[in-house]
Amino acid sequence: MAARNQARIGRYILFKSLKKGGMARVFLAVDPEAPDELLAIKTLLPELRKQRSYREMFEAEGKVAVRLQHPHIVRTVEHGDGRGGPFIAMDFIFGFDVSTALRALRKQGQSMPVPLAVALARDVASALHYAHALVDEFDRPLEIVNRDVSPGNIMIGFDGRIRLIDFGIAQTTIDVKSQIGSIKGKISYMAPEQVRGLPVDHRVDIFGLGTVLYEMLTGVQPFHDEGDFATMERVRRAEFEPASSINPAVDAGLDGIIARSMARDAEDRYPYAGDMQDALQQWLVERGEAVRGEDFAELMRGLFAQRISDMHADISKARAQALGGGATLASTPVATESGAMRLISEDMLAEFAGLASEADLPLGARAEVEPPTSTEPAKPAGGGAVTWVLVGVALAAVAGLIYAFGGM
Ligand SMILES: Nc1ncnc2c1ncn2[C@@H]1O[C@H](COP(=O)(O)OP(=O)(O)O)[C@@H](O)[C@H]1O
Ligand SMILES: [Mg+2]
Repeated sequence: MAARNQARIGRYILFKSLKKGGMARVFLAVDPEAPDELLAIKTLLPELRKQRSYREMFEAEGKVAVRLQHPHIVRTVEHGDGRGGPFIAMDFIFGFDVSTALRALRKQGQSMPVPLAVALARDVASALHYAHALVDEFDRPLEIVNRDVSPGNIMIGFDGRIRLIDFGIAQTTIDVKSQIGSIKGKISYMAPEQVRGLPVDHRVDIFGLGTVLYEMLTGVQPFHDEGDFATMERVRRAEFEPASSINPAVDAGLDGIIARSMARDAEDRYPYAGDMQDALQQWLVERGEAVRGEDFAELMRGLFAQRISDMHADISKARAQALGGGATLASTPVATESGAMRLISEDMLAEFAGLASEADLPLGARAEVEPPTSTEPAKPAGGGAVTWVLVGVALAAVAGLIYAFGGM
């Protein structure tokens, strides 16, 4: 019954490409045994599959991911190695990541309501605290550090649930990986010690969450500057305008929470993500703000009403095709007015089978080649804030910085 061109990995049928990044492509998939549940399958790009270091890194990500069981972390079903290479199967989150939501808000001239931004950060803080404190079966700390807490790695479901995805560059004591990991995150969300190439611990995630909270409240990245080098200089000094000077709805209490989480020296930050979670929760309680999942669901409905129904239609169609066998693959992307997710094309299949050498981005270049799930039409090159096309330059700049300031 499997169609000639059907893309399979493990026992899953892949039927849409959700997004391609620097290292991985994420597909929407189903398990034919349980076709009602949608899964997201993350796969290593073919060129990288050939390299042992990447396979090991991806394997390490899978190992960490399956251990993480928390209401605010996406559930990983399994990780394995199929004919199409290593993969990580997780629950598909019907929603958008925070960067997409912020973009949509900006377009409508709005910003995220302050209590929602605070509640979202609180939920992510709880997820981080859980991950940081996780121990193995012998009670030994795993010392998981996400190191990439950024808007693209936090999803808001249409059901209002907040979930952290992507522990791709998390390092644990059981799997010490190469230095590559320290420069793979996004500069604007990095902590000063990360940019300086110094040893990091869980407090980089507290810093990263501070930058995400700042951006949700102000609509701008705290260290954004002309060019990556200037941005890195700002990160290094941890210099930023108080959020209240950009958004008057931010009060002194919240400025204080941000300042503490984004302190330049790790010792001056909240010692644990749980402390940041408590501070955010207390802020909500003191102001009598009770944020519910329904409030996020409403926000998402307001922002993406049309796209939600487009996505529903798209998904049903693709699923029917994938499970129906025959006409599984569309050779042309499905175009809807909102720029839909792509069906798996012949090219993509070839890429998947390792037959085509697609012009993939180098490691670390995390440009959005495709919109996350079914989002915006492709951005013109060079648009947007810090784009990942420049990571090659950034790496050189990091090396320069480390060289120039290494002794400090
Ligand atoms: N479980 C999921 N459900 C829905 N979308 C997902 C899921 N996992 C990832 N995505 C989408 O794919 C993008 C890239 O996934 P991610 O795991 O962050 O990979 P990368 O390591 O390339 O950053 C995310 O920003 C999100 O838009
Ligand atoms: Mg990511």
